[in-house]
Amino acid sequence: TRPVRLALLGCGTVGTEVVRLLHEQADDLTARIGAPLEIAGIAVRRLGRDRGDLPVDPSLFTTDALGLIKRDDVDLVVEVVGGIESARTWLVEGLRAGKSVVTANKALLAEDGGTLHDAAAEGNADLYYEASVAGAIPLLRPLRESLHGDRVTAVTGIVNGTTNFILSSMATTGAGFNEALEEATELGYAEADPTADVEGFDAAAKAAILASLAFHTRVTAADVFREGMTGVTAGDMASAKEMGCTIKLLCIAQRRDDTVSVRVHPAMIPLSHPLAGVGDAFNAVFVETEAAGPLMFYGRGAGGRPTASAVLGDIVAAARNKLSGTRAPSESNYAKLRVRPIGES
Ligand code: NDP
Ligand code: HSE
Repeated sequence: TRPVRLALLGCGTVGTEVVRLLHEQADDLTARIGAPLEIAGIAVRRLGRDRGDLPVDPSLFTTDALGLIKRDDVDLVVEVVGGIESARTWLVEGLRAGKSVVTANKALLAEDGGTLHDAAAEGNADLYYEASVAGAIPLLRPLRESLHGDRVTAVTGIVNGTTNFILSSMATTGAGFNEALEEATELGYAEADPTADVEGFDAAAKAAILASLAFHTRVTAADVFREGMTGVTAGDMASAKEMGCTIKLLCIAQRRDDTVSVRVHPAMIPLSHPLAGVGDAFNAVFVETEAAGPLMFYGRGAGGRPTASAVLGDIVAAARNKLSGTRAPSESNYAKLRVRPIGES
């Protein structure tokens, strides 16, 4: 059988683990898909960067991402670079040309997911992005497929691992924000510039993606009310504890009739709440539906290998669809629900 060939865009924290998993699980993946997966090329920014002992032919590396996507022998585009541009141009180009796309790019999906979905519909191509929210946790596919017969009424979650580590550490050790952030940086959880995490931008992007899928509508990052967690003090945490509570940075998306509201902010929750016990850098998302009732999703929301697991799952789905001539469920038939400003009764 002809191999399914993929263009890998990005070979950093997530991309290197995608390469390793493709290599380690080659036989199983071939069996699951019905054809082998082959890397046609890997686009990076710096050709000379030391990438350790990656099990891949060094001649596959290129700095010409667009040229790689346009090659006739590329079936799937896997984007683990991040950022809005150039990723948007690359993915739109690939989708319009009928190449399926797998991406972990929450920032782009939250800012302009509509453009990607429209390009996918135009090119009759798949657009999968399980890794963009809550890393390894299978969450978007259940929202996108398994719960289609039900009506989701609310999604409440801890979707940022870095800030959950910081708040959990503050709750257990009594440390202040700066001390806990230092610890998160030393352990490799927080990035050199932690602004997107601690100011809630990362969680707001994920909230927009979750709300769009849960309510079958289009919510962008700009629609999300956002307050970061830098103002939470050791004193706040101690007071919460005295009241039998803890503080978490929550993403809360709710549907009421034909309106939705989406917000991200620190919140005090009782220790008996299912999200209160989510410690370390773990993520958890609580989904409420009319028929199924409450559902809880829990696991690792970040890190190269857990995130690569979600990327691989999407690659398998897209490759199978390619071979059978089918497509992922379309997101272009969305409902036009109004985003309700916070504070509106
Ligand atoms: P990294 O910064 O570790 O890797 C980015 C990669 O993109 C690098 O290989 C870099 O090349 C390459 N790159 C950057 N600019 C260009 C360009 N112009 N052309 C070609 N290649 C380029 O990022 P991560 O792996 O951490 O994240 C990738 C994506 O996954 C992001 O969208 C992120 O939000 C998402 N994500 C990450 C998670 C994580 O835990 N890290 C979890 C969930 C999602 P070079 O190596 O040469 O510098
Ligand atoms: N910085 C993010 C986090 C990475 O801490 O959750 C995963 O999206």
